[in-house]
Amino acid sequence: MRDEDKIKIFIVVDNTSYRNDFESAWGLSLYVEAYKHSFLFDTGPDPGVFRRNLERADIDLRSIDFVVISHCHKDHTGGLEYITERRPGLQIYIPDESRRHYIQEVGLRPSVIKDLTKISENIFITKPLEGPPIEQSLVIKNDDKMILLVGCSHPGITNIVREVVYMFKKSPEIIIGGLHLFNVSTERVKEIVEELISIGVKKIFPIHCSGEKTREYIKTNYPEIYGDGGAGMIIEL
Ligand SMILES: [Fe+2]
Ligand SMILES: [Fe+2]
Repeated sequence: MRDEDKIKIFIVVDNTSYRNDFESAWGLSLYVEAYKHSFLFDTGPDPGVFRRNLERADIDLRSIDFVVISHCHKDHTGGLEYITERRPGLQIYIPDESRRHYIQEVGLRPSVIKDLTKISENIFITKPLEGPPIEQSLVIKNDDKMILLVGCSHPGITNIVREVVYMFKKSPEIIIGGLHLFNVSTERVKEIVEELISIGVKKIFPIHCSGEKTREYIKTNYPEIYGDGGAGMIIEL
């Protein structure tokens, strides 16, 4: 039995491993249980790593409701190949047309998101923003808190958060995902982190392509805001 008030996020694939028995790979996949739904946000770069880490986590794809693909880069879509084996016909939410035919051809059911989309009372896919590539994010919210899941943040993490604030009239408290800051200066990291905090963000799990410099900067300067990551980690909120 799972606790329906709890939100559970399992990091299935990440650039690093949190547990020794999980494989790391450059990419991202999060498994989420929230409000009676279970779903995947991205699928990592490789069907084999994806499958083996799902098995280690004891996550059965037959029980998931849908998959959200943040953007159509290979390090987020590689696991779709394995999903076709386990769950033909599964609903896949994508941010643009680029992979629609592929997803259809392999026997899955693509749905292209154009605007803010309510999946259930507490789960939303945000309006896809231009990167390149075009990218969508996911919001889980109740009256107390709002959690934002991001893939690579190609449109810019501050732009994504500003758009969420515009749509929901409040800031997300928690951000989990890739911030795409692995190739920017510490000065720029500082500016971005300070802006996120000033908007209202209280906790950041800077995983995947966020960069070591970003992780170190937040961990050192804002330890109360920093959240650790890595494949095999469970975040309960
Ligand atoms: Fe990525
Ligand atoms: Fe990407």
